[in-house]
Amino acid sequence: MKHNLHLRSVGMTFAVAAAVILVGLDATPVPAQGPPQPETLKGPWNDRSLSPDRRADLLMERMTLDEKIRLLHGTGGFALSGPRSNGGAGVVEGIPRLGLPDLQLADSAVGVRAAAERGRYATLLPSSIGEAATWDLELAHRYGDLIGRELRDQQYDVSLGGGMDITREPRNGRNFEYLGEDPILAGKMAAQFVRGLQSNQVIGDVKHYAFNDQETGRNIGNVLLGKRAMRETDLLAFEIAVTEGQPAMVMCSYNKVNGDWACENSYLLTDVLKKAWGFQGFVISDWEATHSTAKAALAGLDNEEPGSRYLGDALKKAVEAGEVPMARLNDMVHRIVRTEFAMGVVDNPPLGRVVDPFTGADTAQQIAEQASVLLKNSGAQLPLNAAALKSVAVIGSHSDTGVLSGGGSAQVDPPGAGPTPWAGPEVWFPSSPLKAIRAKVPKARVVFDPGSNPAAAASAAKAADVAIVFVNQPTTESRDLPTLTLPGNQDQLVSAVAAANPHTIVVLETGGPAAMPWIGQVSAAIEVWYPGIRGAQALANILFGDVNPCGKLPVTFAKADADLPHPAIPGMNLLPPSGNGRMPDFDIDYTEGLKVGYKWFDAEGKEPLFPFGFGLSYTSFAYSNLKAAMDGVSVIVRNTGKREGAEIVQVYVGLPPAANEPPKRLVAWRKIRLAPGEQKTVALTLEPKFLSIFNEQKDAWELLPGQYKFFVGGSSRNTPLTTLVAKPQ
Ligand code: BGC
Repeated sequence: MKHNLHLRSVGMTFAVAAAVILVGLDATPVPAQGPPQPETLKGPWNDRSLSPDRRADLLMERMTLDEKIRLLHGTGGFALSGPRSNGGAGVVEGIPRLGLPDLQLADSAVGVRAAAERGRYATLLPSSIGEAATWDLELAHRYGDLIGRELRDQQYDVSLGGGMDITREPRNGRNFEYLGEDPILAGKMAAQFVRGLQSNQVIGDVKHYAFNDQETGRNIGNVLLGKRAMRETDLLAFEIAVTEGQPAMVMCSYNKVNGDWACENSYLLTDVLKKAWGFQGFVISDWEATHSTAKAALAGLDNEEPGSRYLGDALKKAVEAGEVPMARLNDMVHRIVRTEFAMGVVDNPPLGRVVDPFTGADTAQQIAEQASVLLKNSGAQLPLNAAALKSVAVIGSHSDTGVLSGGGSAQVDPPGAGPTPWAGPEVWFPSSPLKAIRAKVPKARVVFDPGSNPAAAASAAKAADVAIVFVNQPTTESRDLPTLTLPGNQDQLVSAVAAANPHTIVVLETGGPAAMPWIGQVSAAIEVWYPGIRGAQALANILFGDVNPCGKLPVTFAKADADLPHPAIPGMNLLPPSGNGRMPDFDIDYTEGLKVGYKWFDAEGKEPLFPFGFGLSYTSFAYSNLKAAMDGVSVIVRNTGKREGAEIVQVYVGLPPAANEPPKRLVAWRKIRLAPGEQKTVALTLEPKFLSIFNEQKDAWELLPGQYKFFVGGSSRNTPLTTLVAKPQ
């Protein structure tokens, strides 16, 4: 597939890459850019007291047509090794004579990608789905802030992070770099991520807009979905992120939506994003997701990446021929230039310095501790009592050496290793659970078994007080999972260990939901996602009770594939489980419509393995005194256990029957921390839109009259308090 050939030059020698650049169509080497000449700095656009829009207008008066076009595309596919490149995924050439710098773009979903290529370091944070499992807006801001700082340290001006396609398909290979299945949770978390990131004067983005909810056939699939379902699901997540987070950039996706490619879809790009939501930034295509010149430009695409096939010379010709009005071209340029002024990349470009790995690791650990979700804890198996433990068996998943990371453009290079091949074999980061566990029980006998032979693992487990089994589910961009079942012999491994030791604790390192046929046999289970550079230490702190777990699932865990809206991923029967193969165009008919995630399970009366919003604690909470109105809820929450802990208080609402909606939807939540015996009154404001439906005829949100049922509690299926609220006509 062209995309890979074009972009993924990481493993290539410089000589080979350079040779390809010389023959490449859009990769003609350009002279290196020097510092801005003094006279360019005297332009009136450098008056910082003027608005970014005014500054852009003043600068554009001095730009030639060729210079304008230059801002609307990348410099070619071999950005990683190209002459202007800083090592990232792309470069947009600047205009030195006017003081506009090159824009250096880097993938940075869970940390800055491809740092090793240039001998740099980047922090691997817990995967984004773990960020979502914290339900913690302040942590989402810190997550983005850390990535923004490390981008700036490495002299990047543009982030290509901000993934937030909702988990409509739980086997999507990219769920680890997204924010779960609920549009309000995903949207609010993405908004804070972007705010944190952009506070570093780095251009932030959200992606992949929109409905790139599976990797299977992502370059050819045509997503079918009605307007109401679009606006209330994936687009609601983007709406919240765009309006509250104010990202400078939105990346349009590979797939088609209702017949038009996302990057030339005027409904998505112009009617909704730019007009309805008032987005003032620019739309950039995913890598080789542009398919036309005039159609794309007129639909609202502002920048083609990584090359210039459609928005380079072809765009110039289209403008000269009158196919694309000059006003639209100027709008494209204005959006980019005003963004550069607004974000500070002109006034305060990144200077470059060594990344601080210590701050990064501390932040990663704190997020991992809040992101882990305790799924089962029979007989208070956890926390482990370090003083009483004499022996521990640690089993499986390379838990002697490291923790798993996700692949593709969200892959971060591990410290002490070379560049990581794109979507290659899975990468384990040097954060050793075995060592971290040993450090907690220095006097105990802690043995390791690789888990490759279930019988051998079972005998190691039998000889120990407790067995901790690690299981994993590697995922990567461009490849979906064929099934929720864990790969290899892992289910047999857990069953064998559990049969040998009644104190079996399972640790899951997955990119999303997984089936657990053995859940009834084990005493405890904890989901840590891909937990980042300090994943092992975070886990050990939870296992031994130094940290009380408080994460809650941002996705429903189904018992089996058969319970999902699509028992097989649409299109997967047409080709191997890869997004990039050749296969006929096909429709991805998302027949579940509004019923994404828990809304499907509620509406269909299906019992999930673990519901959305679920997560245990080492303490317990009681809910009382619910007071509800259409604009707010208050409830008293009390810590009824013996230790301090955090609870994520969740408010769901069922709309009146006339709305014809799934039984309930999340409308608000709050994370609170309580000492033993302490209680707090939690007051939550409700946003009218979140209780509304999208009326297609009126093309507007509508709050219907009728009875609204409020559900309050600690998960979507554990809501001890309910009440009815009437909304008059
Ligand atoms: C991915 C994007 C990524 C881009 C640049 C594409 O394959 O879908 O998420 O930002 O490559 O690496």
